[in-house]
Amino acid sequence: MKIGFLGCGKLARSILRGISKRDLWKQHSFSASVTQEASAASLRQEFAIEVFTDNQSLVDFCDLIILGAKPHQISSILSKLKPLPRSKTWVSLCAGLSYEKLRSWLPSNDEVVRAMPSTSSAFNESMTLLYADKKHALVNELFQAVGSVLWVSEDLRIDQLAPVTASSPAFIYHLMEGFEDYMTSLELNPTETSLLIGQMLKGVAQKILSESKSAEELIKEVATPGGMTVAGLRKLTEFEARKALTEALKAAYERSKELASR
Ligand SMILES: NC(=O)c1ccc[n+]([C@@H]2O[C@H](COP(=O)([O-])OP(=O)(O)OC[C@H]3O[C@@H](n4cnc5c(N)ncnc54)[C@H](OP(=O)(O)O)[C@@H]3O)[C@@H](O)[C@H]2O)c1
Repeated sequence: MKIGFLGCGKLARSILRGISKRDLWKQHSFSASVTQEASAASLRQEFAIEVFTDNQSLVDFCDLIILGAKPHQISSILSKLKPLPRSKTWVSLCAGLSYEKLRSWLPSNDEVVRAMPSTSSAFNESMTLLYADKKHALVNELFQAVGSVLWVSEDLRIDQLAPVTASSPAFIYHLMEGFEDYMTSLELNPTETSLLIGQMLKGVAQKILSESKSAEELIKEVATPGGMTVAGLRKLTEFEARKALTEALKAAYERSKELASR
């Protein structure tokens, strides 16, 4: 299959990085379209793929097109394409852009899938949400190659869950700044700082994934009554860290709705 990224910035590049480490890379042909010659050159250099600077050439060339431009650009991009002689599969990465809208802009015989991966795709650790009228085997395979997938039962679920899977890496990096602030005075070098925080988070992730326990149960296992962890947890409660995270997730969802309506 010929698979093309229409718009190939931070997210699409991370997907290409992840897929390039898997067998799929040799089984299919990958290409992209972007606007700037400098972006095209850097993509050609990193991935040795065909890169177009006009979308029509990419769409004519490919069977499966992954929309990786900004949500508010998609309607105008699609409206400029000439009618296509054969049917295609379209995968949208665009936050907040509904399945219904995408369907209304694309030929009725074409297959449409919404996908919400994260830039952790580069390390084959994305949690990708997928939605379509009918599951699509190759799309499933593509996103399994860059992490785990969850097909959701309705389109709205993608928008509701995207703050958790797609925005939260940034929220965790924000918390990481708190670790960094604390560790600055301890004079560790950047490699040691990244190792301590990264390995700790990896252990936390492994535990959550392997045991499927609630946060309350997990906290009980780590926090001995009267111990040092409880003292720290008390501070997090005092500063309403839990509430702050919930509000951040709600704000991300609200913003995705605003962006989608532009
Ligand atoms: N970043 C994330 O973590 C994340 C997570 C979930 C979903 N998303 C979604 O993924 C999409 C891309 O986000 P991003 O962060 O990767 O954005 P980005 O880094 O700004 O990349 C946008 C890409 O679109 C290209 N582009 C702009 N106008 C175009 C046009 N008219 N035709 C073809 N290509 C065009 C740009 O090309 P040039 O380089 O030539 O300007 C660039 O390659 C968005 O819809 C976003 O909602 C992103």
